[in-house]
Amino acid sequence: MQDVWVEKYRPRRLSDVIGQRSIVERLSAYAKTRSMPHMLFAGPAGSGKTTCAIALARGLYGEGWRDNLIELNASDERGIDIVRGKIKDFARAASFGVSDFKIIFLDEADSLTSDAQAALRRTMERYTQTCRFILSCNYSSKIIEPIQSRCAVFRFRPLGEPEVKSYLKRIAAGEHIDVTEEGFDAICELAGGDLRKATNIMQVASSLGRKVDQDTVFESTDNIRPSEIQDLLTTALNGNFTAARSKLDDLIARHGLSGEDIVSGIHRAVFDLPVGEDSKVRLVDRVGEVEFRMVSGASERIQLEALLAHFAHEGKKLK
Ligand SMILES: Nc1ncnc2c1ncn2[C@@H]1O[C@H](COP(=O)(O)OP(=O)(O)O)[C@@H](O)[C@H]1O
Ligand SMILES: [Mg+2]
Repeated sequence: MQDVWVEKYRPRRLSDVIGQRSIVERLSAYAKTRSMPHMLFAGPAGSGKTTCAIALARGLYGEGWRDNLIELNASDERGIDIVRGKIKDFARAASFGVSDFKIIFLDEADSLTSDAQAALRRTMERYTQTCRFILSCNYSSKIIEPIQSRCAVFRFRPLGEPEVKSYLKRIAAGEHIDVTEEGFDAICELAGGDLRKATNIMQVASSLGRKVDQDTVFESTDNIRPSEIQDLLTTALNGNFTAARSKLDDLIARHGLSGEDIVSGIHRAVFDLPVGEDSKVRLVDRVGEVEFRMVSGASERIQLEALLAHFAHEGKKLK
């Protein structure tokens, strides 16, 4: 089987983590002094939370890190009871090696209800001699205060486009694949700072066996090319509503996209339309409204047409 690039290229050492400078500095200090507090890693997907936890464990325990770090997912469908059972078993077992504590990495901690978090807090206290917890979440505000106050909080930032690009270029070189500059741009646009997503998009696009350019990226991810959306929107803006409507049909039929996919494509495209700032403000506002209605269960078809109608109106105003 082919390697999964997300694992193959995951940095092994803290010093190889991209960005997140102050976090890396503090974690490196913990590895050196062989002591660490409970921690809360908060930040968006694909910004390096799991990577940093594993790299820290490697720094602390060397190649035996796997015996000293357990990875659990709080949103595991088997429930928090299983998680607690595993935590207990792991915590009870004596720790090996130079460190006298083990690490429990609990991913998606913000998916726990506050009751479950309260129970988790008690578990954290009970095993604080032998275990350190690293809780990972997207939003620290969803973690109850008593846990937050017991943890050192680390805020991970989404990575910037230059950082995503240079990371992708390293993988492309490692895999000997040919990726055009527009190909990298398209991946960055779709991934938006999420390195896991960026890596996966590039791997899927390259599996088509051709040069990875804008077309392969959009084709392999079943995303509409920005130029197609631009074409759809300018047709509507020019007041050609019926033509825009049949382009919409065509896009839906060819790509099999959901209404939400199309709306997020439109959202990305608005900023590049040849219209003034005022129009963009009104259009983006409307895109947001339509997206909300769709999420709330309104008919996608009707909402998309209403959105195109709005673009047509806006076009008339401009004339
Ligand atoms: N800051 C980073 N530096 C280097 N690689 C990263 C970074 N953030 C994410 N990645 C890469 O993205 C993938 C997912 O990273 P991960 O740490 O699991 O993200 P999450 O923040 O969702 O836990 C891995 O392949 C990893 O190599
Ligand atoms: Mg993770």
